[in-house]
Amino acid sequence: MVTASASGRIAPRLRLGIVGGGQGAFIGAVHLTGARLDDRYELVAGALSSDPHKAKASAPAFRIPDERAYTSYAEMADKEAARPDGIEAVIVATPNHTHYAICKTFLEAGIDVICDKPMTTTLADALDLVRLVRRTGLVFCLTHEYTAFAMVRQAREMVRRGDLGAIRIIQIEYPQEWLTTKLEDTGFKQATWRTDPAKSGPAGALADIGTHGIHTARYITGLELAEVCADLTAFVPGRKLDDNAHVLLRYQGGARGMLWASQCAPGTENDLKVRIFGEKGSLTWRLRWPNELFFSPLDGPHQLLSRGRGEMLPLARHASHLPAGHPEGLHDAFAVLYRDAADAIIERRYGIPAPETSKTFPDVESGARMVGFIEACVASHKGGGTWVKTEFDV
Ligand SMILES: NC(=O)c1ccc[n+]([C@@H]2O[C@H](COP(=O)([O-])OP(=O)(O)OC[C@H]3O[C@@H](n4cnc5c(N)ncnc54)[C@H](O)[C@@H]3O)[C@@H](O)[C@H]2O)c1
Repeated sequence: MVTASASGRIAPRLRLGIVGGGQGAFIGAVHLTGARLDDRYELVAGALSSDPHKAKASAPAFRIPDERAYTSYAEMADKEAARPDGIEAVIVATPNHTHYAICKTFLEAGIDVICDKPMTTTLADALDLVRLVRRTGLVFCLTHEYTAFAMVRQAREMVRRGDLGAIRIIQIEYPQEWLTTKLEDTGFKQATWRTDPAKSGPAGALADIGTHGIHTARYITGLELAEVCADLTAFVPGRKLDDNAHVLLRYQGGARGMLWASQCAPGTENDLKVRIFGEKGSLTWRLRWPNELFFSPLDGPHQLLSRGRGEMLPLARHASHLPAGHPEGLHDAFAVLYRDAADAIIERRYGIPAPETSKTFPDVESGARMVGFIEACVASHKGGGTWVKTEFDV
């Protein structure tokens, strides 16, 4: 099967595998929907669950033939790497503590990786993946999908064009409500591993959703953090990891910011909001109204920019599937990341150049920055709320 690349040359559909995403899993199915939307991939193999029975039983629904439905990701990497028609890219949609070993195994087998966040549970592992990706030259896409909403990309272009002037203040909120009660005690598996330090890593809400907010602001502004001062709280009695995080942010170059990430804020559902204030104006993007961007130039009227209407800058046009007024959401954003990753993989494997507009997807260095952020926040909190530097060489 073939599909047209952005350059007009024809590249084959990429043969895709997935680790995780079997029966009862959450995000794997969203990845696969995203991968299908622009028709650059064909799912051919999977290690769909940590439970061997479920790994096999989940395969028919994905049209994965039994001989390519593996009960271990290591076996999948070995066998697929040995096949002439083996997978070219793999999705990693498993709990956090497994990402490092799974990514390393597939990278060492010469397979490009699309991994969910947070990339690893320690900075040492994250930096090891950075080195491995650099050494192999393979593509690594980290699915911080909020960077792929068209109006977030519009915001990035507006900041780069100078519409806000120098950035001074970055305010990030990512509240959710689903862990307001002790859901982990009810057998709800997404809650169980997320509140277990052995599986989630050293932080809870901070790592699970705080990194999405921090990364979205980083994508829009291009600014790197310099130091953080964190207050991490577990409000639900007996919970071992934070379900609420307040973090003060100092950016390189002098900008200041705040992050509030919470999973016990009733009424908020899933309400990421990023506000950027510069010398000449401000921008607000909110996941609740993802097709809009609020722009307030200091010397002019407030402007509600709507995806597809008026001036859409190149990255925003690239990230938009539908005309104005036809809402785009989470699946569309995943699709944009999958298209960007496909362009990079096709360039690497088939020599067909990727368009410039597809080159801003979050990569392995972004993943390491976010894991470094988590570790700095945990150290700050443990030290009683001291300022901890987040600058390190990647
Ligand atoms: N980008 C996003 O917006 C977003 C949203 C949700 C989750 N996530 C991330 O995605 C990952 C998965 O989260 P989820 O909510 O889908 O979890 P989940 O518990 O719903 O699903 C995890 C799946 O991985 C499987 N699995 C675990 N270990 C495995 C192994 N060794 N081999 C094969 N399969 C294995 C499980 O059996 C399950 O099918 C996490 O890292 C999470 O942080 C990202």
